[in-house]
Amino acid sequence: MADDLNDVTDDETSESSEALIAVHWREEGYYPPPAKFVAQANASDPAIREQFTEDKFPDSFTAYADLLTWYKKWDTVLDTSNAPFWKWFVGGELNASYNCVDRHMETHPNKAALIFVPEPESEAHQAITYRELYVRVNEFAAVLRELGLKAGDRITFHMPMVPELPVAMLAAARLGIIHSQVFAGFSGTAAGHRIADSGSRVLVTMDGYYRSGDLLDHKVKADEAVEAAAKEGQEVDKVLVFRRYPGQYASKTPMVEGRDVFVDDLLAAHKGEIVEPVALKSTDPLFLMYTSGTTGRPKGCQHSIGGYLSYVAGTSKYYQDIHPDDTYWCMADIGWITGHSYIVYGPLALGTTSVVYEGTPNYPDAARPWRIAKQLGVNIFHTSPTAIRMLRKVGPDEPAKYDYHFKHMTTVGEPIEPEVWRWYYESVGKGEAVIVDTWWQTETGGFLGSTLPGIDPMKPGSCGPAALGILPVILDEDGNEVPAGSGKAGNIVIRNPWPGVFQTIWGQPERFVSTYYAKYNKDPKSTDWHDWPYFAGDGAVQAADGYFRILGRVDDVINVAGHRLGTKELESAALTVPEVAEAAAVPVVDDIRGRVVEMYVALKPGYDATPEVENKVKVAIETDIGKIARPRNIWIVPDMPKTRSGKIMRRVIAATSNFTDTGDITTLANPEVVEKIRHQVQSAKLAKGEVPRELSEAELNEIKTFGSE
Ligand code: WTA
Repeated sequence: MADDLNDVTDDETSESSEALIAVHWREEGYYPPPAKFVAQANASDPAIREQFTEDKFPDSFTAYADLLTWYKKWDTVLDTSNAPFWKWFVGGELNASYNCVDRHMETHPNKAALIFVPEPESEAHQAITYRELYVRVNEFAAVLRELGLKAGDRITFHMPMVPELPVAMLAAARLGIIHSQVFAGFSGTAAGHRIADSGSRVLVTMDGYYRSGDLLDHKVKADEAVEAAAKEGQEVDKVLVFRRYPGQYASKTPMVEGRDVFVDDLLAAHKGEIVEPVALKSTDPLFLMYTSGTTGRPKGCQHSIGGYLSYVAGTSKYYQDIHPDDTYWCMADIGWITGHSYIVYGPLALGTTSVVYEGTPNYPDAARPWRIAKQLGVNIFHTSPTAIRMLRKVGPDEPAKYDYHFKHMTTVGEPIEPEVWRWYYESVGKGEAVIVDTWWQTETGGFLGSTLPGIDPMKPGSCGPAALGILPVILDEDGNEVPAGSGKAGNIVIRNPWPGVFQTIWGQPERFVSTYYAKYNKDPKSTDWHDWPYFAGDGAVQAADGYFRILGRVDDVINVAGHRLGTKELESAALTVPEVAEAAAVPVVDDIRGRVVEMYVALKPGYDATPEVENKVKVAIETDIGKIARPRNIWIVPDMPKTRSGKIMRRVIAATSNFTDTGDITTLANPEVVEKIRHQVQSAKLAKGEVPRELSEAELNEIKTFGSE
């Protein structure tokens, strides 16, 4: 760590190397954590790091497991015998629902566990106490049990941001049913693929929910989901439909006789019923969370009960700095890993009050989050760079008008630009709140890189050092270590396992090993964890002070507003349009959403480029994936730039869309098409006013290397 923490250095790093991604950026100055925060922080003594040094691994992580109540204590902290399928706290037995509900109901039944804030401001917020949560979770568990669901079965939720979602998750967890929540913004078809992949025969959904002022019909997606799952051979025999307003029905689609049931009707038959939590093995799965990768098939990341819950409880305590009396609000969606770990499981395991907001942050105006914060007394706030950029754009002066006080704020999901970070710090946090920039992934269960908020100074744009007990290193393609302070970027890998790491990809164990562990493993038979570095798929640089700066994905996944979209998924959707012969998705730098998608398609001979074809591609993507994946532009081009072996050169079209240098194109099979496409795309973009700002070095590198393995 640098000695003078407030010294702003303008150290321009300009070294570059052919083998590595060149990095070239300004070092930012440090911000010390506010003294008032430090005085109350769960971790304020730097000595805590000594409890998590490499020589104390893996026993160090028992400190996290000890935050939970176990029916039976573990015999082995970490079992590596089937590397890299790590097993944590082996022999231990526990129940996640008990840990998040029952034990707090016993000690503080009248405290709010969840506060639901409906999007319409005319609707009052609803505080759900731990006692009430206990009742609701038990009743819904009784419903699931009556359907014959039991430990090890899978259930799919396609639920919006309503308290019924955590209730359903905790009810499933109570029985050991493995839940798979699909983000409500995904299409019915996308939910259907995930139902089929997980082998769920029950789907839980809601009739409708509010989004930007509209009560959306959501149940319609359930019918599409069931149909898509059936096409893949998975029958869904029950669709449980929560109603946004019990007794009314917000959807136009009919309920299917024998298959669809209103949950409020079912619950009436189980009023007051108690379902004892099942004592489950630490290594049993808690849930699946699907995420995109480099193939068209999403990966069902399987998380364990004991390891995962320990890790999110521990990191919620030390990194979110959750105390029992805090009011904690994470604006993420529970349909993503952030919501699972840091709205539901982490905060509730610690017995705090967690806010669930239904709608969009800027509805009805850019001050909505600050009104909610004031009204509920929120003191810990958690969101993404995309939300921060958007709120800054539409209401830069709004936070100052509202009397709320955050002690702690989080940014997660994408790199944050230093000037956006500074607005977050100064305007949203009013200079009083500490910020953690947490780097992690669906696969990792919880934070991997972050400052310890009561100890480490903050540095805008860098997530900070490794989280407690995590041993990251940056490696080049050959596995050589890239030293801190070298100014060179490489692949960030984690040398050791940790309790929150996912157990496998559901149904694809070989893909689990090949995607995350094969790259730097030299002995596939080894049962020594040292031989299995975890490949995160992100490029990063480590500064001399040990802080990591995450540059973004090194695979062809596009991070749109903090959501991972696989180019193969986008392209396969486009290829379902009969006229389309070839498709390629590329990222375009965007000031609000970080990246947006642009789609290039070439048509089969005999078809003309018409607005109808373009629209078909758009509809295909929305149908297969969802509106979040909608491309900004669809370019119908005469041909794709290709190598002589016929591979589409995604970096060339990415450069075209971003107005950057296309690089060497002399080795292409059809170099003449590059200029044609450039003219077509760029003149259309200029006419629409889509002129990009000057890109940072990291952004330029991402575009330059996009799609090259
Ligand atoms: C990116 C979200 C920079 C990264 C928790 C990672 C980040 C991917 C950060 C995982 C951050 C996440 N700074 N980039 N603080 N956090 N990312 O699975 O590329 O939805 O690999 O998990 O988001 O996205 P996922």
